[in-house]
Amino acid sequence: MRMTVIGTGYVGVVHAATMADLGHEVLGVDIDEDRIAALADGTPPVYEPGLQDLLQRTLASGRLRFTCDMSEVAGFAPVHFVCVGTPQMPGSKSADLRSVEAVVDGLAPHLHPGDLIVGKSTVPVGTAVRLAERLRTRAPGAGIAWNPEFLREGFAVRDSASPERIVVGVSSAHGESVLRRIYAPMLRAGVPFFRTDPNTAELVKVASNSFLATKISFINAMAEVCDAVGADVVTLAEAVGADSRIGPRFLQPGLGFGGSCFPKDIRGFMARAEELGVGGAVSFLQEVDEINTRQRVRTVDLATRLVGGDFAGLNVAVLGAAFKPDSDDVRDSPALAVADALQRKGARVRVHDPEALDNARAAVPTLQYTLDVPKACEEADLVLHLTAWPEYQAIDPVALALLVREPVVLDARNALDAQLWRESGWSVHAPGRPQPQE
Ligand code: UDX
Repeated sequence: MRMTVIGTGYVGVVHAATMADLGHEVLGVDIDEDRIAALADGTPPVYEPGLQDLLQRTLASGRLRFTCDMSEVAGFAPVHFVCVGTPQMPGSKSADLRSVEAVVDGLAPHLHPGDLIVGKSTVPVGTAVRLAERLRTRAPGAGIAWNPEFLREGFAVRDSASPERIVVGVSSAHGESVLRRIYAPMLRAGVPFFRTDPNTAELVKVASNSFLATKISFINAMAEVCDAVGADVVTLAEAVGADSRIGPRFLQPGLGFGGSCFPKDIRGFMARAEELGVGGAVSFLQEVDEINTRQRVRTVDLATRLVGGDFAGLNVAVLGAAFKPDSDDVRDSPALAVADALQRKGARVRVHDPEALDNARAAVPTLQYTLDVPKACEEADLVLHLTAWPEYQAIDPVALALLVREPVVLDARNALDAQLWRESGWSVHAPGRPQPQE
């Protein structure tokens, strides 16, 4: 089938390349000329395992092409996936829908009866219904469907090719049949398919993200309680997660969530629920958000206590800038927020990250950055482990102890082998974990 994918950020590039890999003819579209030139050359705009290979393979197949020319779009295909960003609006909890609206309004005059716009962007519930209303007069006979994307950064290629479910919110049998044909190879492979109305489809996305964010904040709240009584949140999480009704995933206690989705999606959900008169139903998300932000403050407070209250003249090594491992994304990154806060308290902060340094430097230019872990830790008075890249778990703590001024590590992700580090001469501190008894 022929289709366009409008917006070539995370979701758009991965979706376009995955669709071409399934055998479809895909035109990727964006207004950013540099990005389109790089994509046409096989260079993805983000670091994502497997994406460059997939992109180059599908470009070489001739089934994937990129353009900045919006006038090509409507003539190219009868199906248009909308994958543009819906960031949080400055000064408000709500999502900014201007890009989505601009794409739909731009397409409308060129659409033919039977053409289908398929939204993948995360939007407040009711958006598709409202956009369909706009299309009714501007593009009679064209339809709109919502088909949320659940991919995780770091696993985006895998999640897109083998999703755990496909959710399509449609208002016509035609919309369903088009989407069933597009995803036919995945449906044949047994991927569950949920056909619903557009409102429910939009809600599935924000409900899923809200649940996961709640799970993370729940375990971080338990870490706070553990700290108050000297209990161990890591063992607690394992034991709680062993209940099959709860499950162990997303119960990793630590610095909390960041990135482009969870924070803005739960805030957008609260704002939309307020508009709908059901704000009380999701007001717990305010607490989820506050627990999450508090983990950053708690980490800074613990770091401050560990250096005796004053960072003046002290070197702090920060391991990790990305909001999570296997990503170069620093949007709302807890790691970068903590690094920045420590610098504001007077520390000399050197940050290491294997992939996110360019983005981190652009976001917080005043920090020192290095691609070398030993260099980050040289003469450090405190080492903070803030993003759980696997390579940090492979650090030799004996060798690292020789480089630092004080062998003190704050493992804010609860991911280092505390016993090994202690045996190597380190004083190890982590949220929700007791200090060993002498
Ligand atoms: C998320 C959703 O998982 C995905 O389905 C949606 O499409 C987009 O938002 P992503 O932002 O890529 O994906 O990251 P995810 O792996 O879900 O992690 C989010 C954050 O939670 C990260 O900062 C991570 O470090 C943190 N996290 C995750 C925890 O602190 N503890 C955990 O147990 C799990």
